[in-house]
Amino acid sequence: MIFREIFFGPEQYRRALALREEILRAPLGLPLGEDDLQGESDQLHFGLFDNGELVACVIAIPLTAEHARIRQTAVAEAYRGQGLGRSIMTQLETTLAARGFASLSLHARSTAVGFYEKLGYQTVGSEFIEVSIPHRKMVKRLT
Ligand SMILES: CC(C)(COP(=O)(O)OP(=O)(O)OC[C@H]1O[C@@H](n2cnc3c(N)ncnc32)[C@H](O)[C@@H]1OP(=O)(O)O)[C@@H](O)C(=O)NCCC(=O)NCCS
Repeated sequence: MIFREIFFGPEQYRRALALREEILRAPLGLPLGEDDLQGESDQLHFGLFDNGELVACVIAIPLTAEHARIRQTAVAEAYRGQGLGRSIMTQLETTLAARGFASLSLHARSTAVGFYEKLGYQTVGSEFIEVSIPHRKMVKRLT
């Protein structure tokens, strides 16, 4: 399994869009809309590849030089429960820490809060609705 950055525009980015649509939006009956895609050329896209096939992806938005927001974490259904979610998040954190980021935040689906807690993220504030389902804000310091 190989972790690498996905550059905006070429084929791999389109594959990441297809995976995000399948995992994160189709089950909600919501297509990835313009709001989701706006500004993505300035965001950092990463994936896990199994023999060249994209099986997990995640995006980081640099909000300041030291803080990034994580979004759109997705692992292909057939690959879940095998440590890939942990793997892509920890490799993402190592990569971002090496680029100078000191803290991360994200909007976790309430169903995924336990996953992020296992990775050291802490909830902040109360539950809110985003893309029609409950979420919690979570944060983690990298340094
Ligand atoms: C959430 C998701 C990324 C987890 O990926 P995964 O590859 O199945 O997770 P891992 O196998 O790496 O699990 C790591 C640990 O978290 C736990 N875990 C995984 N999903 C969990 C969940 N939804 N709730 C609580 N714990 C969870 C695992 O049991 C494992 O614990 P362990 O280390 O004690 O054994 C994946 O299920 C997914 O893509 N879900 C659909 C999209 C989604 O909800 N994304 C998050 C949007 S905020």
